[in-house]
Amino acid sequence: MKKITISHLEKLKKQGEKFSCLTAYDATFSEVISEAGVEMILVGDSLGNVIQGQETTVPVTLEDMEYHIACVANASPNCLIMGDLPYMTYSTPEQAYDTAAAIMQAGAQMVKLEGGEWLYATIAGLTERGIPVCAHLGLTPQSVDALGGFKVQGRDDKTASKMLLDAKALQKAGARMLVLECVPSKLAKLISESLSIPVMGIGAGVDVDGQVLVLHDMLGISPFQVKFVRNFMAEANGSIQDAIALYHNEVKEQNFPAEEHSFE
Ligand code: KIV
Repeated sequence: MKKITISHLEKLKKQGEKFSCLTAYDATFSEVISEAGVEMILVGDSLGNVIQGQETTVPVTLEDMEYHIACVANASPNCLIMGDLPYMTYSTPEQAYDTAAAIMQAGAQMVKLEGGEWLYATIAGLTERGIPVCAHLGLTPQSVDALGGFKVQGRDDKTASKMLLDAKALQKAGARMLVLECVPSKLAKLISESLSIPVMGIGAGVDVDGQVLVLHDMLGISPFQVKFVRNFMAEANGSIQDAIALYHNEVKEQNFPAEEHSFE
């Protein structure tokens, strides 16, 4: 298997073939996920929740991200590795360049940041400097305090139109991928169809180009289960390898997410 690139994921979108992504934070899971054929690994700042036991992703530092990205990259997975820019490390374009450089040098091939049109200049600058960027809209966990909790986003006409406009602006700025988190399925479908870049969903229904889940959630070992997660480990008789292979296959076949894992 060759290393997966962003161009490959763009090709899959054009062909209408779905792709899968899981979070990972260490070398062992990096290898297991790669062997299952999963196209992407996100070293997410969700490590604040599942590794560090924090309530939110806000306390995660750049040093934390660099450490875990290096652990994942050390396993040399075939997956494209994407790393999150942590809380308040991309408030200005210049600050974002330094943070993104550290994330790429730690071993990522793409960076992800949370927010809408206000990131236009930052994304354009990173793109000009040769860094592939993924934007993240919908429920953006770094802004959970401003959003008033972990809630579905874009349910009314005003916020839905704003999300579509943001998505188009971020693509125009140069974003190569978009993550939509906790967004009604119809809106996610519309956004995905309106963009040429791959759109990856988490709690965004089946009509997007790829799916991402937090590893600990889909293995059923997180302290709480949320609507958009399926416990693949329970279905795989307790085998982690089989659970990850099942997830990948169910995404490819468009059996996951089902309506019961999606929002209206
Ligand atoms: O940090 C993370 O794991 C994420 C996913 C929830 C998309 O951003």
